[in-house]
Amino acid sequence: MTAQCELIADATELTPAQTSVTLVAGAHAPPHSSTVHTSALAEVGKTPALPLISIRNVSKSYRRGGQIVPVLSKLTLDIAAGEFLALMGPSGSGKSTLLNLIAAIDRPDSGELTVGRLDITQLGEAELADWRAANVGFIFQFYNLMPVLTAYENVELLLLTSLSRRERARHVEQALALVGLWARSDHYPSELSGGQQQRVAIARAIVTDPSLIVADEPTGDLDRQSAEEILALMDRLNVELGKTIVMVTHDRRAAECAHAIMHLEKGELSAKESRGRRVAAG
Ligand SMILES: Nc1ncnc2c1ncn2[C@@H]1O[C@H](COP(=O)(O)OP(=O)(O)OP(=O)(O)O)[C@@H](O)[C@H]1O
Ligand SMILES: [Mg+2]
Repeated sequence: MTAQCELIADATELTPAQTSVTLVAGAHAPPHSSTVHTSALAEVGKTPALPLISIRNVSKSYRRGGQIVPVLSKLTLDIAAGEFLALMGPSGSGKSTLLNLIAAIDRPDSGELTVGRLDITQLGEAELADWRAANVGFIFQFYNLMPVLTAYENVELLLLTSLSRRERARHVEQALALVGLWARSDHYPSELSGGQQQRVAIARAIVTDPSLIVADEPTGDLDRQSAEEILALMDRLNVELGKTIVMVTHDRRAAECAHAIMHLEKGELSAKESRGRRVAAG
């Protein structure tokens, strides 16, 4: 952890009770206690030599009014299990496009995209949706919470089809406690600050215990203090829970919390700028 992120981590205030719940899902607990669903990527996370995400010659363009707009051109990139990578670059350079490919929200036009030994470009729509649900947690700039649902219900939503009510309750409580918001579980998004809403969104992203977290400008709509709380949480997800994180950000201070920073410009990626942080256990 860099000195700056250490400072940021200290800024997140959790009560002792919340911390103890957090540790049930944390690295100090036996592995089975943090498992919501056994993730297909978890095994790869235990094999450090293997990149979790392998992107080979991936290109992507969009069609707009009969014109083809090239966005990504033959990108090649490896992301290790347990890595925390920040992706920067000018507006329109294709950062969200690349993130959406990594998270299997969109497909490349050409090239290979392997996540945990699986070439996700070869999956059908239904398989891809299942794979995404089990393996990827999403954090967006504008939180994307359902306004008519409470914090609890927003976090519970992704578990509705897979777990019993009692199991859901356990996982939702763990996730909300981890972000320090269990006491606000019956609040609606409109009754929460932006920073609190983003913390609920983080709880929602981790409640299924995905190996990979993708975050698109998670601090872009927040004031400095709230942004620091969110970054401290992201750091904990990486260091304590071993999540692999790819975070798009315009904020250099946010990017400094990652292990490595890459710049995307004119469809091309810069070399990785290493931040020299320790890599989290997978
Ligand atoms: N669905 C789409 N259809 C057509 N063009 C698109 C689509 N999505 C993105 N683009 C175009 O692709 C380019 C890259 O967009 P992208 O959203 O990936 O950029 P970005 O780096 O995330 O920008 P920002 O920092 O503003 O969020 C832009 O020129 C954008 O207009
Ligand atoms: Mg974007």
